[in-house]
Amino acid sequence: MSSLKKTPILMMATAVAAALSVSAAAMGDKPPAAASSGMSQVQPTPAMAGTFAKAPEAVIPPLAPLGPPPIPLDNPMSEAKVELGKLLFFDPRLGGDASVSCATCHEPEQGWSWAEDISRGYPGTVHWRGNQTIINAAYYSKLFWAGSVPSLEAQAPAAAKGGVAGNGENDLMEARLRLIPGYVERFNEVFGEPWPSIGNAWKAIAAYERTLVQRDTPLDKYLLGDSSALTEEQVRGKALFEGKARCILCHNGALASNENYYNIGVPRAERWLEDGLAQITFRFQYYSKGSDEELYRTVKDDVGLYFRNKNKWDKGKFRVPSLRYIGFTEPYMRQGQFYTLEEVIDFYDRGGFDEDGNTTSYPKTKTPLITKLNLSDEEKEDLLAFLDAFTGEEITIVKPRLPGYKPLFTLAELEAAQAAK
Ligand code: HEC
Ligand code: HEC
Repeated sequence: MSSLKKTPILMMATAVAAALSVSAAAMGDKPPAAASSGMSQVQPTPAMAGTFAKAPEAVIPPLAPLGPPPIPLDNPMSEAKVELGKLLFFDPRLGGDASVSCATCHEPEQGWSWAEDISRGYPGTVHWRGNQTIINAAYYSKLFWAGSVPSLEAQAPAAAKGGVAGNGENDLMEARLRLIPGYVERFNEVFGEPWPSIGNAWKAIAAYERTLVQRDTPLDKYLLGDSSALTEEQVRGKALFEGKARCILCHNGALASNENYYNIGVPRAERWLEDGLAQITFRFQYYSKGSDEELYRTVKDDVGLYFRNKNKWDKGKFRVPSLRYIGFTEPYMRQGQFYTLEEVIDFYDRGGFDEDGNTTSYPKTKTPLITKLNLSDEEKEDLLAFLDAFTGEEITIVKPRLPGYKPLFTLAELEAAQAAK
């Protein structure tokens, strides 16, 4: 975990100057000065802007090589647990109609994600957000686009049971596991329990996900001292990333994410307006996440962090995603608004606007950290080349063969038991 620790450094780059220039006036819908939502703590509040203005330099963790992922004390790793978790990750019986596994949506050949703007859903539905890769998910302390769950152990049941994802029932999924002798044996070996329990299934999946990490990208090699790991173009791109282009303000540290929440100006997903099924899921999410009637009827975009705390200054804010493995995870942003990294760079260069001039549906909460960058074509190319350095080799695996069901007893055993009565 050590390399994940955010080593504060004093940044000299122009990015800092940008951070310093955050003004209270630019904050729009602001939190009350004493707000302590605990969720938006690092989005600069007017109070913080004051602190920034006084501090000579802002503290931004530098990009760093990725260390091993943190392992929670109550779910230690073992080879047998990881193997069990891998089977379960690929097993559609952990879901409603036994047709959708984690891997169905987090398809290894699609970057352990789903290569559509809005993810596929449970059969008969579409999801409402774009998919996220499993690779390096082990490092986040907040999962999902709006950071709504704190651990992989808590995330797995949310996925397997969510109405537009796995749509499973705990009791039914557990009953299935208990009728699969291969699992009975493995759960016994790993957890010492006579019959598989569903809670331990999530633990095993989490353990498997902690092996799906990538720590040998060109950037890691470069940061560990191999200066030949980046091309000259990429080295120039790195300087832009840390300076003029200001990416480092949010995509920093070993994960290239500060895990804070921002509204950077990504426009709404057009698909909600055109696709009836997507519209149903979109409204369903508002309903199920406790929105009031008015919001449910009138809202036109994903309110993000607002769902969790109902603070109006958090509308349209999302967790900063890591940039690792992005070479395999297009399209980008929470509803796949951009298909290429060129489009992403142009979006940032315009100060958070797409090519048609569209921006966030919640302009009052748009962060002042995103401003026009005035990058030249050559600078854009250098930055693009550098973004490649966050991705190493594609992570592929041989899909496991799943163990089969077996009835608890055979007909002969049943007849023998009846005869003995
Ligand atoms: C129907 C498709 C679907 C299924 C099935 C599914 N997921 Fe997901 N997964 C998604 C989508 C879409 C997101 C992003 C959703 C959001 O943020 O609201 C996501 C997000 C995640 C994340 C968060 C990654 C991050 O960067 O925060 C993890 C971890 C994850 N899924 C693991 C799993 C596991 C484990 C399973 C099986 C138990 C699973 N998923 C099943 C579609 C799916
Ligand atoms: C103010 C914080 C901030 C800054 C500065 C910033 N980003 Fe981001 N970035 C985010 C957030 C938040 C998202 C997700 C937004 C969404 O989906 O609505 C994101 C998403 C992305 C994505 C998509 C990742 C994915 O998995 O879909 C890429 C690529 C990216 N940023 C690259 C950059 C680059 C390159 C720069 C510099 C030019 C930059 N970012 C500057 C906060 C920031």
